[in-house]
Amino acid sequence: MKIELFENKVFFENNGIKNEIHPFWLRERVNGENFVDKKTQQRLFDPTKIENKIMIKNLNLSDEFLEIVFEDGTKTKLSIQSIEKEFSNKNLVQSIKKIKWDSSLKKLKNYQFNKNIFEEKTMYTALNDFYKFGFVIFKNVPTENNFIVHFANSIGSIRKTNFGEYFNVKSKPEPNDLAYTSLPLSPHTDNPYRKPVPCIQILHCIDNEVSGGLSTLVDGFTVTEDLKKNFVNLYEILTKIKVRYQFIDEKVILEDWAEMIELDHNNEFKQVRFSPRLDFVPLIEKEKLELYYSARKKISELCNSDQYKIEFKLSKGDLLMMDNHRLLHGRTSYDKNEGNRFLQGCYIDYDSTESKLKYLARKFAL
Ligand SMILES: [Fe+2]
Repeated sequence: MKIELFENKVFFENNGIKNEIHPFWLRERVNGENFVDKKTQQRLFDPTKIENKIMIKNLNLSDEFLEIVFEDGTKTKLSIQSIEKEFSNKNLVQSIKKIKWDSSLKKLKNYQFNKNIFEEKTMYTALNDFYKFGFVIFKNVPTENNFIVHFANSIGSIRKTNFGEYFNVKSKPEPNDLAYTSLPLSPHTDNPYRKPVPCIQILHCIDNEVSGGLSTLVDGFTVTEDLKKNFVNLYEILTKIKVRYQFIDEKVILEDWAEMIELDHNNEFKQVRFSPRLDFVPLIEKEKLELYYSARKKISELCNSDQYKIEFKLSKGDLLMMDNHRLLHGRTSYDKNEGNRFLQGCYIDYDSTESKLKYLARKFAL
């Protein structure tokens, strides 16, 4: 992108196309200490009280700065870098490219916990890995006093649900979810019936004495991209039909309608919801249902196949942080008589974790 001046007007050129920057866009970015609060970057003036048709009186352009004097007498010095940044309109997290993975994924770097990690560069690297691969594992995280709550609130804000601020995953009598049994759990995403679906799930292993109960992860991004490549008609029906997801227990009724594969406004992967015990397709034409059922069967086959899933054992102190909009998780069955298997879990939303990443990037000038 290149900035040029012509007769008190500012132009930007991108890919050979030249456009004028609206003078008001520049005027509402005046950045002196009388106009912007230094700490919060919030405006100290209300731009809706300024005349929209403001004109520029004088301009000066150097390699690094654009200096402007407006006809209302205000002056500003904007860095070219800050204008370019707004032009690309991408935040730090969006610029981290997702890396697709399948069962050939080599062992990823684990991060050793220490009590200062939340303020260290290591956490920045770990969160980067999380956004690249959809998960990250921390080792030796303290298991006392529901430490998961402190952990979650130190990288984001915990998202409380009807399962509580955090939940204990161990087999218990009369469970209200299959998670609380020793049965195998095939790969699924959590809580597709919530609005919005919890973004990040944290699972912290407090105790694991059993030989089974391996944790399973599948990259829903890889699976849905492969589905698009190899079975486009199956992919398309899953991106079009809104399915009802529901959860019911004694006092709670939750439901939401969404596509199994939700796309963003660029028709790219946004989110997968896969939990075939909780989904209810609407009563639509038989032919469409025929295709839908084939598609659901296919995505289930892929998610359960050895081609895509990784399996590993969580040991005491291991903390798994995973993207619930991208990854599917599950576990193999275990024998309760072998000993304890006790995980604690909770959810956090993306925005506070994104904030943590940006904060650490700013702190370490990365
Ligand atoms: Fe789950």
